[in-house]
Amino acid sequence: MRLSLLALASVALAARPFLDEPDTGIEEQLGEIVANGTLAPLKSLVGLPDFQWSARQFMNASSYTYYRNGAAGEWSYRNNLEVFMRFKLRPRVLKDVTKIQDSIPTTILGHNFSAPFFIAPCARGGYAHPDGEVNFVKGAAAGDILYMASLYSSRSMDDITAAKGNSSQVLFQQVYLTENMTETQQLFRKIEAAGSKAIVLTVDGPGTGIRHRAARFGVGSANIDLNLLTWEKYHTLSNMTSLPIIPKGIQTVDDAREAVANGVKAIYLSNHGGRQLDGAPSSLEVALEIHQNEPDIFKQVEVYADGGVRYGSDVLKLLSLGVRAVGVGRPYMFSNIYGEEGVKRVTEMLKFELINDAANGGIGDLKKIGPEWVDWRALNGWYS
Ligand SMILES: Cc1cc2nc3c(=O)[nH]c(=O)nc-3n(C[C@H](O)[C@H](O)[C@H](O)COP(=O)(O)O)c2cc1C
Ligand SMILES: *[C@@H]1O[C@H](CO)[C@@H](O)[C@H](O)[C@H]1NC(C)=O
Ligand SMILES: *[C@@H]1O[C@H](CO)[C@@H](O)[C@H](O)[C@H]1NC(C)=O
Ligand SMILES: *[C@@H]1O[C@H](CO)[C@@H](O)[C@H](O)[C@H]1NC(C)=O
Ligand SMILES: *[C@@H]1O[C@H](CO)[C@@H](O)[C@H](O)[C@H]1NC(C)=O
Ligand SMILES: *[C@@H]1O[C@H](CO)[C@@H](O)[C@H](O)[C@H]1NC(C)=O
Repeated sequence: MRLSLLALASVALAARPFLDEPDTGIEEQLGEIVANGTLAPLKSLVGLPDFQWSARQFMNASSYTYYRNGAAGEWSYRNNLEVFMRFKLRPRVLKDVTKIQDSIPTTILGHNFSAPFFIAPCARGGYAHPDGEVNFVKGAAAGDILYMASLYSSRSMDDITAAKGNSSQVLFQQVYLTENMTETQQLFRKIEAAGSKAIVLTVDGPGTGIRHRAARFGVGSANIDLNLLTWEKYHTLSNMTSLPIIPKGIQTVDDAREAVANGVKAIYLSNHGGRQLDGAPSSLEVALEIHQNEPDIFKQVEVYADGGVRYGSDVLKLLSLGVRAVGVGRPYMFSNIYGEEGVKRVTEMLKFELINDAANGGIGDLKKIGPEWVDWRALNGWYS
């Protein structure tokens, strides 16, 4: 009896596999081509998840795992991806959507970009391509989108700055800080000299991320001393630079409120791609919590969000709650196996999906999208 129940349970599980790489036929079409180590042709990839599939075949196990991994049992990693499909759309029809394209460009802290999504700050771009982050700078310029460079980039800040096509290209710089304020002051000066327009301060990792998958390959987090970061310190840091400091990793409405009370210009909702604290909510759930408890926050400061964004409709769901711009991490990291061309392609694909998903949902003006576009009654929870 027990055995047959288990057998039934495994059939039930098999019926709804985890959709990390949804089966849309890529294995059937390209499986043989990549079997001998050949890079799948870029033109054969049709969507963002395809870049993960291609990178998984091409990169060595340790490098691929560093990009792919999540914290501990990876519940937050999976939830980031699955949460979007828990909320059904409420598409409208017979609306004039012919001008939707004109409303795709946006501003981020006053800077113009062609789309409301950006390249999230991710370390170690060199694992996918020898040119590393240079490809993100060039790809972002070609697509006219924002790139936030990680402090732990494979290439130096000088190389990243030099890769800018012209001095007007806007980059933001992500940072982790040490307790040494002299060092911090020097870092801030360097970032200002490089021409970055904002400092993105990662606040979701005062401890070491517990990364089981990555630890097996020696690419987990390094053990660090617990980092002192408080709102009092935030003010001290703000006094050390003329640049706005954006806290990245806000995960509750409480901290969103505190951030606003402490005078931030923008907040960045994120659980670090599910890599830091397993059990942390996705940014869609956090945006929903803010919408339900303190919706004015979306008007008081700019709100950015990332985690698990793979489709045009994912971007739209976040924007419908009032998020201004959406970060994309792993798809860009994986696309870098094709260098700058791969980075450009991700941007083109996501713009195309954004425009057409909006049109098919009856949205004629992206700036007027609102929460009524989604049914926010969740279909099911974490364990179903
Ligand atoms: C390989 C990798 C490295 C990352 N490195 C950093 C980092 O150095 N600083 C940081 O704030 N976030 C880092 N992140 C988190 C990203 O900024 C972003 O929050 C996350 O990737 C978004 O989720 P997604 O990958 O599902 O799009 C990293 C993520 C990945 C996948
Ligand atoms: C790998 O396989 C593909 C498809 O079968 C073939 O076109 C290609 O030449 C092969 N490459 C190598 C290096 O064997
Ligand atoms: C940004 O776009 C607006 C509206 O198109 C334009 O007026 C402004 O000059 C642009 N700013 C920059 C810095 O290009
Ligand atoms: C995997 O690839 C990375 C990046 O190219 C390289 O630094 C590393 O040595 C490789 N590791 C193994 C085990 O081959
Ligand atoms: C702090 O950083 C500065 C600049 O790198 C260095 O000279 C100094 O020795 C550091 N102080 C401590 C206590 O490590
Ligand atoms: C920051 O600077 C302002 C204005 O100079 C000052 O009032 C404030 O006390 C400073 N705060 C900290 C924490 O240094």
